[in-house]
Amino acid sequence: MIIAVDGPAASGKGTLASGLARHYRLPYLDTGLLYRAVGLAVAGQTEGPGFEAAAIAAAKALDAAHLTDIEALTAADTGVLASKVAVIAEVRKALFDFQRSFALQPDGAVLDGRDIGTTIAPDADVKLFIQADSKARMERRARQLEARGQEVDRYALYHQIEERDARDMQNPYGGFYKADDAHLLDTTLLDIEAALRAAIAIVDGTMAGK
Ligand code: DC
Repeated sequence: MIIAVDGPAASGKGTLASGLARHYRLPYLDTGLLYRAVGLAVAGQTEGPGFEAAAIAAAKALDAAHLTDIEALTAADTGVLASKVAVIAEVRKALFDFQRSFALQPDGAVLDGRDIGTTIAPDADVKLFIQADSKARMERRARQLEARGQEVDRYALYHQIEERDARDMQNPYGGFYKADDAHLLDTTLLDIEAALRAAIAIVDGTMAGK
């Protein structure tokens, strides 16, 4: 069974996708980490042709061993860098095979990102599109960072999320749109447990109807 989980920055899709993976005992890939690793590889470079070339080279050279420094990868600044490299078509192309092979493991997999249901696994058994309003997303991300001992400027974080939304929305290659056959799950008013229960109900309901 392949489960595709898409949605905007800090929508809770990662928490939900990893919860679904545990529940159904499936391997899980947070595809945002791939873009974040590429972003980290070009941190400090000014945007321009050199930046693009370096990002493409980093995407081509990427392997799972680059995905271990979770603290650096999940930092808010890395998310901004990731959204910059994610608009480069060649970067997306270079990351496609890794994601596609992950989805096609024998037992299936859960993948979360922006374009899983539309591009990486358009044939997924179940597609979820997670939504939450930007204030709720900011607050969740703030608590996540605080739990890791990082200091958070909520005002700056809110603007960073809006900035990333805007860039992601304009990304011509990402297909940051809900797949027609994706189930919309709005988690603004749901805590993690309630959101996970809702997601499991959607997956079970969809599989029962197959
Ligand atoms: O989900 P995230 O915050 O870790 O994603 C970081 C950035 O990577 C985000 O701004 C958009 C990009 N991304 C993408 O373009 N396609 C994906 N499948 C996952 C992430």
